[in-house]
Amino acid sequence: MKQANEREILLIVDDEAAIRRVLCQKLSREGYQCEEASDAEQVLNTLATSPIALVILDIKMPGKSGIELLPEIKSDYPDTAVIMATAVTEINVAIQCLKQGADDYLCKPFNLDELSLAVQRALEKRHLQLELREYQQYLEEKVEEQTGEIRKLFLGAIEALVSALEAKDRYTAGHSRRVSEIALAVGNELGLSAQEMEDLRWGGLLHDVGKIAIDQLIQNKPAKLTDEEYEHIMTHAHIGAEIVRPVVNERIAEIIEHHHAHYDGSGLHQVVAGDDIPLGARILAVADAFDAMISDRPYRPALSITKAIDEIKRCSGTQFDPVVVTAFLRKAETRTIET
Ligand SMILES: [Fe+2]
Repeated sequence: MKQANEREILLIVDDEAAIRRVLCQKLSREGYQCEEASDAEQVLNTLATSPIALVILDIKMPGKSGIELLPEIKSDYPDTAVIMATAVTEINVAIQCLKQGADDYLCKPFNLDELSLAVQRALEKRHLQLELREYQQYLEEKVEEQTGEIRKLFLGAIEALVSALEAKDRYTAGHSRRVSEIALAVGNELGLSAQEMEDLRWGGLLHDVGKIAIDQLIQNKPAKLTDEEYEHIMTHAHIGAEIVRPVVNERIAEIIEHHHAHYDGSGLHQVVAGDDIPLGARILAVADAFDAMISDRPYRPALSITKAIDEIKRCSGTQFDPVVVTAFLRKAETRTIET
């Protein structure tokens, strides 16, 4: 925004020095700072180095004319107002210039009072345009900020729901948070981008939200599941993705959808396999299985970390992506996973 004590810079373009001088004197007396140019090259040089608010552009100049220069100015300096200066006999040309984005035109010989008014009008219009754009930007930023806040609150609420769901049963308490942390350690080892890490974090925290729709008696059954029961439990991946899809990006929903997919395609009702499974889901599969193995479950006690790691190694290339397993093992070796 222009400060009250900041003088606006005008660029007077005419090949006749006498005309430039008269215009500069008049406009300087009115408080504007004036620069001068006699041809297109000087105009472009001045625009590139000074914040010109308005150009008074002579249509007829030796070399590149004002008409040819106008589109260039409007395209490279859209915030600079342009008033065309033309001979009375060239009114049609001036109107053509208005169509090409000029803010006004003045006829030569100049009436200096008209000149002042035209400059004032064009600058006021420019201020309004700049203010409007600034306000639009402010509104867009506000909307984006509030959308982000609402999204964060909603995701936080779902996360709280998952924690509450897990806390109800001692076997799964804290599972999603631990899975998210393990997955992030692996993601970090694999050099994931900040965006991929953020998706993975949410994928980990929300991956089992679909269990809200699963029969608790089946989930906590202290014996081997029947095929039907297993199938019922496995629907939680799809249900979870559908629950979060309205508020998360599609990548997070896909991570949740496929977090039980086997790398070799042998999982239940699997539609994607190998590297077609989203990388985040392949990482979660390892993190999820590892945390499940080292936790007590209704049907078996917790495995030792060594045995769980051996099991992950054994399933590399079948259930799990070998690249992810290698990254996981590197983290496990440095004890990052355990801590
Ligand atoms: Fe799961």
